[in-house]
Amino acid sequence: MESALELHDVSRVFARGIVALRQVSLSVRGGEFVAVMGATGSGKSTLLHCAAGLDRPSSGSVRLAGREISRLRERPLTRWRRDRVGFVFQSYNLLSELTVRQNVALPGRLGAPRTRDLEQVLASVGLAGAGPRPVGELSGGQRQRVAIARALVTRPAVIFADEPTGALDPTTGGQILRLLREAADRDGVTVLMVTHDPVAAAWSDRLVLLRAGTVAGDAATPAAPVIADRLHAVSTAVPA
Ligand SMILES: Nc1ncnc2c1ncn2[C@@H]1O[C@H](COP(=O)(O)OP(=O)(O)OP(=O)(O)O)[C@@H](O)[C@H]1O
Ligand SMILES: [Mg+2]
Repeated sequence: MESALELHDVSRVFARGIVALRQVSLSVRGGEFVAVMGATGSGKSTLLHCAAGLDRPSSGSVRLAGREISRLRERPLTRWRRDRVGFVFQSYNLLSELTVRQNVALPGRLGAPRTRDLEQVLASVGLAGAGPRPVGELSGGQRQRVAIARALVTRPAVIFADEPTGALDPTTGGQILRLLREAADRDGVTVLMVTHDPVAAAWSDRLVLLRAGTVAGDAATPAAPVIADRLHAVSTAVPA
């Protein structure tokens, strides 16, 4: 089976020579749930943005859902993202003056095809009947469910999540992680999730550790206490 996501020697250099990623290579299978961890500034968000086509690598290539995207022009890139990718962020990125249903319907209104039945998606994330409610009235956990519903409604190949449970209590966070886990298991969605939390990472199949913009670990996800130890090791070790 072809990889859902393929990064080959991806580097990202920002202004003033800040190297956020150094020749990162990564291949992720369809339906795989990958957690990305590392110290603050290690390049996790940059990796996610480059992989998702929200940012362009300075060098190297990114293949997303079967298409080379790193040198794609802006319009076809936007369309590719809209149709193949879902995003879930720590800050939800919802329009709070719109209702739940209007937020989840947004990708379709922007022209995304293959949309699933809205009510069915809302029910699948535990928001049955919440469609008419303004998002501004919802709790953090409910907002994150809306964000996941919006990410799922286009039947994406890949969901990118940057600290999706960072603003939630452990119980609510667990419910959100279960939804991501189900998307991978039931719908074959590939999930790439950045987190600082070993308990959140323990929901994944595979753990990628970043240190100073390089991959310092890439293995099957161990139990949370072992994750915490490995994260501590890559966060304190002096980079070569
Ligand atoms: N737009 C930008 N311009 C300049 N430097 C940037 C930019 N975005 C990120 N960086 C730098 O790139 C490095 C990696 O940043 P990144 O946001 O990927 O880290 P991170 O691992 O996500 O950190 P955190 O855990 O704090 O979210 C940092 O040194 C950061 O300052
Ligand atoms: Mg980040």
